[in-house]
Amino acid sequence: MLADRMKTLAPSPTLAMQAKARAMRAQGIDVISFGAGEPDFDTPARIKTAAIRAIETGQTKYTEVGGIPEVRAAVCQKLKRDHGLEYSPDEVTVSCGAKHTLYNIMMALVNPGDEVLIPSPYWVSYPEQVRLLGGVPVPVVTQEATGFDLDPAALRRAVTPRTKMVILDSPGNPTGAVFSPEALAAVAKLAVERDLWIVSDECYESLTYEGRHVSIASLSSEVKARTIVVNTCSKAYAMTGWRIGYAAGPRPVIRAMTDVQSQVTSNPTSIAQWAAVEALGGPQDEVAKMAGEFDRRRRVIIEALNAIPGVTCVKPKAALYLFPRLDPKVYPIKDDQKFILELLETEKVLVVQGSGFNWIHPDHIRVVFLPNADDLTEAIGRIARFLENYRKHHGTN
Ligand SMILES: Cc1ncc(COP(=O)(O)O)c(C=O)c1O
Repeated sequence: MLADRMKTLAPSPTLAMQAKARAMRAQGIDVISFGAGEPDFDTPARIKTAAIRAIETGQTKYTEVGGIPEVRAAVCQKLKRDHGLEYSPDEVTVSCGAKHTLYNIMMALVNPGDEVLIPSPYWVSYPEQVRLLGGVPVPVVTQEATGFDLDPAALRRAVTPRTKMVILDSPGNPTGAVFSPEALAAVAKLAVERDLWIVSDECYESLTYEGRHVSIASLSSEVKARTIVVNTCSKAYAMTGWRIGYAAGPRPVIRAMTDVQSQVTSNPTSIAQWAAVEALGGPQDEVAKMAGEFDRRRRVIIEALNAIPGVTCVKPKAALYLFPRLDPKVYPIKDDQKFILELLETEKVLVVQGSGFNWIHPDHIRVVFLPNADDLTEAIGRIARFLENYRKHHGTN
């Protein structure tokens, strides 16, 4: 039968919901999706052209496992340009999306029994990847009152002699939080003191609307020496399907990750790598344009959600997500999975349940602010109608 590790593996709840919505659409049902964190823009033309050129010039063979020299050089330039971080190409490895990059890191660093601290609510894949390797994910709760900022005191309390690593997802999914400079400085201090690895997932950095994203690796050379910076072309360049993620970090870790990759996938797609060279190294104006449009949608949707009775929404500083709270007195939700399925079935609007991100209170949902303006107004109208009916049938207020 199946391996023991499969007993604890939870499939991605976000992908499961997306599959359900896709099946409904295939039946001709008009579903509005607030589910997947996938920019709705097309990949910019200059990037597509680079990929076409790669095909036409025969760049269609195996490449270096961790990426062609050009793509690793482009990553180095990007990290220098955006964060003043100096890496050499042998401190960079490129893989099939950041999800794959993260898994390579876990393979390279996590031993069975090692504890990995993960600020919660968190992106669904971190704990599953840790568990697959016999590690122990340790959630460290953040507070809505602080905009889900990292709580350094809680993090410190969670450290044990088995703690190996802390994963930072900032700007974060599912809350859109950007960890404050004070919190980052405190984590950096803790990591140095307790000899911890820091994995800094910066996939949403280009979609920062308020404040500035700081890469923790840029705080000092001591911190950089224990940090693996992870990023992707998926979100910044609307390239989710191309599958290009990358990491920069200390040479032995990067080498180990690349060795793992050499036995599992070999190189990421050669054509996508050439597209990534153009994405990372070319003019960056579309990134700001996309971010500007997402920011506009963010403002519209926060206002619309906050106008619904019993709904409050912390303003996310970045990323593509809102994590609104539905007052349990108004909406007494016992099973949030059932609740969102009901919303999908009655109003054909897809959101994801808060518990899918390890949020223990069944009173939050994750909403992606992706649909364009018309869909947005229509979708919020549908959510409001659903909540009003829910309140009438279940609520006390
Ligand atoms: C926080 C976070 N990290 C990493 C990823 C992975 O992105 P990709 O594998 O497309 O590069 C995602 C995707 O949704 C994410 O939300």
